[in-house]
This record gives sequence, structure tokens and C-alpha cells, in this order.
Amino acid sequence: MSREIKSVAVLGAGTMGTGIAGLAAEKDCKVLLLDVSMEAAEKALDRIVNGRPLAIDTPGKEANIELGTLADDLEKIADYDWVCEAVIEDVETKRKLFERFEPLRKDGSVVSTNTSGIPLRDITAGMPDRLLKDVAVTHFFNPVKIMKLCEVVPGEKTDPDVIDAFRAFLGGVMGKGVVNAKDTVNFIGNRIGCFWMLKGLHAATDARKAGLSQERIDALMSAPMGLPPTGLYGLIDLIGLDIMDFVGKNLAVNLPQGDAGLPFNKFPAAEQAMLDRGQLGRKTGGGFYKLTKLDDGSRKKETFDLDAGDWRDAEDVAVDATADVVLADTADGQFCWDIMGATLSYAADLIPEISDDIVNVDRAMRWGFAWGKGPFELLDTLGPKAFLAKCRANGTAPKMLEVLESAGAETFYRKDGTEFLGLDGQYHPVPAE
Ligand SMILES: NC(=O)c1ccc[n+]([C@@H]2O[C@H](COP(=O)([O-])OP(=O)(O)OC[C@H]3O[C@@H](n4cnc5c(N)ncnc54)[C@H](O)[C@@H]3O)[C@@H](O)[C@H]2O)c1
Repeated sequence: MSREIKSVAVLGAGTMGTGIAGLAAEKDCKVLLLDVSMEAAEKALDRIVNGRPLAIDTPGKEANIELGTLADDLEKIADYDWVCEAVIEDVETKRKLFERFEPLRKDGSVVSTNTSGIPLRDITAGMPDRLLKDVAVTHFFNPVKIMKLCEVVPGEKTDPDVIDAFRAFLGGVMGKGVVNAKDTVNFIGNRIGCFWMLKGLHAATDARKAGLSQERIDALMSAPMGLPPTGLYGLIDLIGLDIMDFVGKNLAVNLPQGDAGLPFNKFPAAEQAMLDRGQLGRKTGGGFYKLTKLDDGSRKKETFDLDAGDWRDAEDVAVDATADVVLADTADGQFCWDIMGATLSYAADLIPEISDDIVNVDRAMRWGFAWGKGPFELLDTLGPKAFLAKCRANGTAPKMLEVLESAGAETFYRKDGTEFLGLDGQYHPVPAE
């Protein structure tokens, strides 16, 4: 049975629900958007039409959206092809909602949860077979309209035609870059991206002791690595220390034993103190950085000096370096090795645990975290053999780097990026996006 998605019922009209509903409405789908109250649903529609960024570009397309409440209008999902759950990140809340809507949806409809990292099996444990065959994770990134990535994760019993339907709709109609992920904690993008941030805070603590300023740390973790200009501390300011703490707690419970991320689920002392006093990031008016508008209209940027425990004027630091600094024998190089070397090693060790191939990993990091190059593309820039030699000198040998060495290969991609190295040591054509 092949399935086609033309309409979507979005359950939960928060940040992600409004983003998904707005994009689907823009693409001329019929949308039902439900939340806990009519007031919440109406506020969501206002954000879709007037928010920043606008969830709908074409005025009038909001007419494709019908609003309602989870209490009074849930039975309307019977008219929709896709039921997309996007309520708060709490397994019991999601499970209760799934149990309520499952008997109400029509045969042949598909279901997804937009969880950031709760395993699908935990959300659907013990639920009817009809649901288990029709359900997947569709993990969009925020803002939905702008971020290209959508990770699609099947459960153990999910029908392949459900995944085909999601791929066709999300890629073809919604214009997303679909990545195949597995039902492992935090999927691909957040597994690697959150390792980079949480391990990064610890690496940066050591780097500060070696004399690097916070601004230098962020300057190194942006342009030289092909990463967004926010760097490490700037990105965490954007996300919020409370969210990162929540992520760390989820990882502590769900990472497999022996995972290299386990030692970094808790913050270093200075960041824990920030969390404890509610200095969470941009949403609380300042975290690691603070921007203040002055009377003359200009903006003053201050840095919260983690070691002094006080605010000071932000330094302007420009770093003239390329990704090769990761292998350099300098204080900058030591820090870059600590964070990027560890992150690239981590990614190289997670095949096939989180992805069957390197292509989906690279796409997840480019499309979800705006990295200029994915981990394996970066390794090709550094030279995988030189990187492996440094890993060995530090007592590790990440799996995909050993595969590359055993295959006698020089790089993970060849022929202008049209072929990639598989876990089997053979090159394969890179699948179309
Ligand atoms: N915000 C992000 O950057 C992001 C990115 C990817 C995935 N996610 C995931 O998407 C989901 C939604 O996140 P969000 O950021 O939109 O959250 P949000 O807090 O903005 O919205 C959550 C919605 O759930 C509703 N809600 C609260 N309690 C409820 C209950 N008991 N029953 C039913 N609905 C309830 C709220 O009214 C709200 O509209 C979460 O699973 C989150 O982890 C978030």
C-alpha cells in the first residue's frame, strides 16, 4: 500500500508545532493545529502570521489552517493523512496523547513525534500494532522554515511505505533535507552536536586555564572550523543552559554504557553556578555574553568572565587559522584537538550505531547545525591518516578511520564527492539529496 500525505494534524502549537503547521500551510496542505486551549492556538496563529521569522510567506495561506483544542477537537484528526505530535518533551505527556488519538485517526494515516531525543520505543511501548506500523520520528530543527534538516526515524515495526511517504512529503513538498536516522538517543544531529557542546564546555575550561580567553575559544570554534559565527559559548547562549542541562540529563540515562559522551553530561562548576542562579543565555538577558543597547543607539557587548565571575567588556578577537589547527602543536591546537578532535573521533566511532553511512552524518551536521562541512568531510580536509595517527598517539582508534586504513583508502569521499566509503571498506555512489 503506498501512502500520500496531503494534510496534517499538528498536535501542540508551540515553537515547533507552529513552524510545521506554517510550512505545511504555505505548501497548500490542509492543516489542523490543536493546543491545550483556544487562546494558546490563537496565539500560535498570530506567531505564524506575525512572528519572526514569518512561518508563512504568502499572505492568506493561513486560511489553510484550522485551529482547535486537544480537549474538544481531537476527533477531527480522522480527516488528516499525517498526525504530527509536537507537544512538550516529556515522555508521559506524549504517551498519554498517543493513547488518546490512536483510536481516532483513520486507517492509512501516518503518525510522527517531533521529539528531540526521546527514543521512539519509549513513547510507543505497549501500544497497538496498527500504531507501531504507522509511526516514525520526524525531527525538524528550529526554525522549521529555515533549517533544512528533518531526521526520519522508523521504529522496529514501522512499515517501509510509511517512511517512503514521509520522505516523499518532507523532501518533495516541504523542501526539507531528509536524513535517515535510527532509534538511538538524540538521533544523529543532536547526538554529535550536543557532544560537541557538552564536551566543549569541559575542553574550554581547560583551555582557559592554558590562557585562552572565551572570545578566542569562540573565534577558533567558528570560521576556522567552518562553523557558524556563534562559536561554542555563543551557541549555548542561543539554546539556553537550561535546555543543555535537560539534554545532559537525558543523555546520562540513555547513552549506551562506555559511550565517550558519558563523562560530559554535567556542566563544569562555573556553568553549573550560572544555571543555578538562572543566568541561562539570551532568553534571560545574558549568559556568557550580554548585549546592551546604549542611549546613542549603539550596542555594547560584554562577556561574563567565567573565572572572575563578573562581567567585563568583550574583546574583539580575530583568529587567522584554518581547520588544520586541530593538528597543530600549540595552545590553540591543543584546545581544537580537545573539542574538534574528540567530536570527529566520536562521529567516526558511531557508524553503524546511529547511521548506516557517513553521508547521513555529514548531512545532519550541515543541515541541522549549519556546519560548513560534516565530520567526515572535515576529516578529509585534515587528512584521515594524519588524524588517525594522532588518535593512536592518544590511545584511541575510531572505527571508520580504521575501516579507511584497512581499505587502503586515502579519503572518505572520492571522485568529487560522488562516492563515499562504506563500512564494508568499498566506495558507493552518494545518494541524491
Ligand atoms: N524548540 C526546539 O528547538 C526543538 C527542536 C526540535 C525538536 N523539538 C521538540 O519538539 C517538541 C515541541 O517543542 P517546542 O519547542 O515546540 O515546545 P513548546 O514548549 O514551544 O511547545 C509545546 C506545546 O505543548 C503544549 N503542551 C504543554 N503541556 C501539554 C500537555 N500536558 N498536553 C498537551 N500539550 C501540552 C504547550 O501548550 C505548547 O504549545 C518537543 O518534543 C521538543 O523536544 C524542539
